Amino acid sequence: MAEKIRVMLSEEEVDAKIQQIGEQISKDYAGKQVHLVCVLKGGSFFMCELAKRITVPVSLDFMSVSSYGSETKSSGVVKIVKDLDEPLKGKDVIVIEDIVDSGRTLSYLMEMLKDRGPASLRLCTLLDKPDRRVVDVHVDYTGFQIPDEFVVGYGLDYDQKYRNLPYIGVVELD
Ligand code: IMP
Ligand code: MG
Repeated sequence: MAEKIRVMLSEEEVDAKIQQIGEQISKDYAGKQVHLVCVLKGGSFFMCELAKRITVPVSLDFMSVSSYGSETKSSGVVKIVKDLDEPLKGKDVIVIEDIVDSGRTLSYLMEMLKDRGPASLRLCTLLDKPDRRVVDVHVDYTGFQIPDEFVVGYGLDYDQKYRNLPYIGVVELD
């Protein structure tokens, strides 16, 4: 089965939005240091681009959770596959995600990270699919709200492919 990718958000649109979010975070955290927590693998492309555009001091850490297999539907099961290297105690933490879909992964993750005693904890996602929400999650920084379509690129995969696309696209099977 051949797959075609239809562009939903161009590279220019995504880059411009990341620049805006970077400027906003730099303002909001003026005089502080931010600790970015990347949710692997999807959040990695967004975090690198965002971090380059933040002008206050930045430190980084990574964690990996799984709620999806090779399917395009959430299993509702969240497992920590790789935990953070550093404690969060006293840090101004921003969790960086590729997309908030059902909200299951993030609601679980944010609660767990809150228990580690950060000075502050916020959530930043490149994409949000509000129509798909099952569990309520408060998002502090959103790149784009998108309709209920399965998207790839900029870190997002379809069966581990297409993460490297520099834009957001929709997979079309024909
Ligand atoms: P949630 O727990 O349903 O909010 O799922 C969040 C995770 O599901 C994201 O971090 C992605 O890894 C994955 N996901 C949700 N929607 C999409 C999509 O449209 N394309 C690719 N991955 C998706
Ligand atoms: Mg993800």
